[in-house]
Amino acid sequence: MDKKRAALTKTTKIGQTAVQTEQLAKTARRALISWHARAGRHDLPWRRKNTPYAVLVSEFMLQQTTVATVIPRFADWMKRFPSLPALAAASEQEVLSAWEGLGYYSRARRLHSTAKTIMERHGGIVPDTEGPLLALPGIGAYTAAAILAFAHDRSAVVLDTNIIRVLARWGNVTVPIDTAPGKKAIVNLGGSFFPETGCRGIASALMDLGAMVCTSGNPDCNSCPMKSTCSATAPETLPKKSPRRVTTKLTEHRAWIERGQKLHLQQSEGPRWRGLWILPELGAAKPTSRWITDLTYPITRYRITMKVFPVKGALPGNLRGFRRAELPGLPIPSPHRKAIEKAFRAIAEG
Ligand code: ADE
Repeated sequence: MDKKRAALTKTTKIGQTAVQTEQLAKTARRALISWHARAGRHDLPWRRKNTPYAVLVSEFMLQQTTVATVIPRFADWMKRFPSLPALAAASEQEVLSAWEGLGYYSRARRLHSTAKTIMERHGGIVPDTEGPLLALPGIGAYTAAAILAFAHDRSAVVLDTNIIRVLARWGNVTVPIDTAPGKKAIVNLGGSFFPETGCRGIASALMDLGAMVCTSGNPDCNSCPMKSTCSATAPETLPKKSPRRVTTKLTEHRAWIERGQKLHLQQSEGPRWRGLWILPELGAAKPTSRWITDLTYPITRYRITMKVFPVKGALPGNLRGFRRAELPGLPIPSPHRKAIEKAFRAIAEG
């Protein structure tokens, strides 16, 4: 047992001794693995093709996007950039275009920069130890652990949302998991639950159990392979979270500038959409007419209502005109693309 795992295991006390937790975990793992062999999601494309590069791409895509959305996008991506060197050699615009619709474009930029860094620093080989992985752009504790387990089948404690929910219930963690004691309880449980070898199988099985049986709303405890070792008394109430911050509503005004069959767009300089093409800001100019269309979209804790106003006067600087046929090939963030389509429809319908 390595030192880190030994330290974690010693401090695991959730109503039972660490030794008891280890013993229960061993029993639970056996049942879990046998359930997974029968019922697991073995055909997820990044599992069938679990090369380090495929794992890297899928983990970046899955950071804030659902499995169902990622499946087709992963296939497209692997066709377009079939290897790490191919991705590293692509331009930023190509990478952003291929990411379109997945949102949170900083992930695409970081994935691209991680591919370039792996080429430069590691000779094109995805690292198989935690330190060098954590030094790469966009790779935090979860992604590093996922790459160690899924790409290299190394010892790692993989804690994503599904696994945290399963462990919080299995160990009956009733303190909110977003507080320091709650986080510690989960990390300790993970330290006991993940074995030293076979982490790829355990991580996949725990993820699938969380997605298919130990679901957030309505856990199907009768079908659960870990039922006999689970401590939860009210599993549907776990994991607990501290009360959420309220969302804030914001309105933004955007300009619709069509000249000579061209729609004029602005290349964003902001952190979220840097380099992507967006409807220009209306800025301080007061809208003089009714908006053409509006659209509400969420970003972090905001709900933003975008209103698009026709602008006839002088063009603000930093704009470029595009024919409508050019727009599909252009990297445009989803809310702006939807607003543009809605505006074209509204204008056509008069
Ligand atoms: N396999 C590897 N990582 C995964 C994830 N984040 N979600 C579902 N399956 C996965």
